[in-house]
Amino acid sequence: MKALVLSGGSGTRLRPFSYSMPKQLIPIANKPVLEHVLTAIRDIGVTDIGIVVGNQLRAISAALGDGSALGVRSTYIQQTEPLGLAHCVAIARDFLGDDDFVMYLGDNMLPEGVAAVAAEFRAKRPAAQVVVHKVPDPQAFGVAEVAADGSVLRLVEKPARPRTDLALIGVYFFTPAIHEAVSAIEPSARGELEITDAIQWLVARGETVRASEYSGYWKDTGRVEDVLDCNREVLRTLTRSVAADVDEVSEITGPVVVEPGARVVRSRIEGPAIIGAGTLVEDSHVGPHTSVGSHCVLRDTRLDDSIVLDGASLSRVRGLYGSVIGRSAAIATVPPPEAAPEAAPEAAPEAAPGAATGVTTGPRMASSRHRLVVGDHTRIEVAA
Ligand code: TTP
Repeated sequence: MKALVLSGGSGTRLRPFSYSMPKQLIPIANKPVLEHVLTAIRDIGVTDIGIVVGNQLRAISAALGDGSALGVRSTYIQQTEPLGLAHCVAIARDFLGDDDFVMYLGDNMLPEGVAAVAAEFRAKRPAAQVVVHKVPDPQAFGVAEVAADGSVLRLVEKPARPRTDLALIGVYFFTPAIHEAVSAIEPSARGELEITDAIQWLVARGETVRASEYSGYWKDTGRVEDVLDCNREVLRTLTRSVAADVDEVSEITGPVVVEPGARVVRSRIEGPAIIGAGTLVEDSHVGPHTSVGSHCVLRDTRLDDSIVLDGASLSRVRGLYGSVIGRSAAIATVPPPEAAPEAAPEAAPEAAPGAATGVTTGPRMASSRHRLVVGDHTRIEVAA
């Protein structure tokens, strides 16, 4: 069996991050979503993985390479325009050959894994096996009507009046029967070749299509709120590991990972939380439910329930929550201009924890709560 991971698309819902990086590389507990996806696929015993990419081939291949670090073999397949999930199957025809395959959306997280679904597909080998999940808003999804024995009676893409609350989520298993279906369907009203239509084509032809219900945690990480929610969920399962330089007055409580080369000085880290390699946390309180990437600098800062991407710096920023701070962004509270006209935030140095950054004098951002969604390389100064 092979795997096809869909990692193209436009990512409009994840702006501003998707302007400068593919949304599938957004970190959840300091690992790109795509890395979680490839690991989940490897965990069901599939290592030959085709990855469909759009115009972000370089960023994705730089992050994942040939897959060997994760124990898989990746082949990149370029999609010139995001013409739909079934279009991805069509352009991957040569890679897939006549093998069965699992198709996995590169922005979907199912942390409990799909081993049971994979086992059912391998045992029964229906033409297609979809994964369904009960959702409160089925009209936003492909919706399945499923018989008591698990066979699919009908699938409808984004129905105005859904007949069930069983939404198709981002994992599908196929035999090569799907290829004829993909070539038979026409683009939908939104101009995409819909995988739901291809699977419904199989149902209408009398082929066996089955559904397995996944009742664990599932998230399409398409929006900032989803990314934060998923981060919270995955952090909950962290096993404590502190491989870093933590001074005597700092306090680390709960499930916390501090990666090698990080430094924690006069600070409190409250789990679940992760602090990336080479990051400096000084005079700060971080967590719970917070991920800080690698080579960041946090000084005199208080944040919880947030994600800070690699190379960002926060100086004298208090009360951040529900925030996502982009790569190498720099946020600082500065004194009023007349008090220190030359003060300005500085981006964190590439790999120099402890190097002076930001502003070191003047009052900090007021102690009220703030939510910030800040793109890569953005600089913000807040006058105290
Ligand atoms: P979506 O999240 O549905 O589409 P999108 O990336 O265009 O997002 P947005 O609505 O925010 O603009 O796509 C699901 C996954 O499939 C995602 O990982 C992107 C990928 N995809 C492709 O690889 N090719 C495609 O043609 C489409 C539509 C999606």
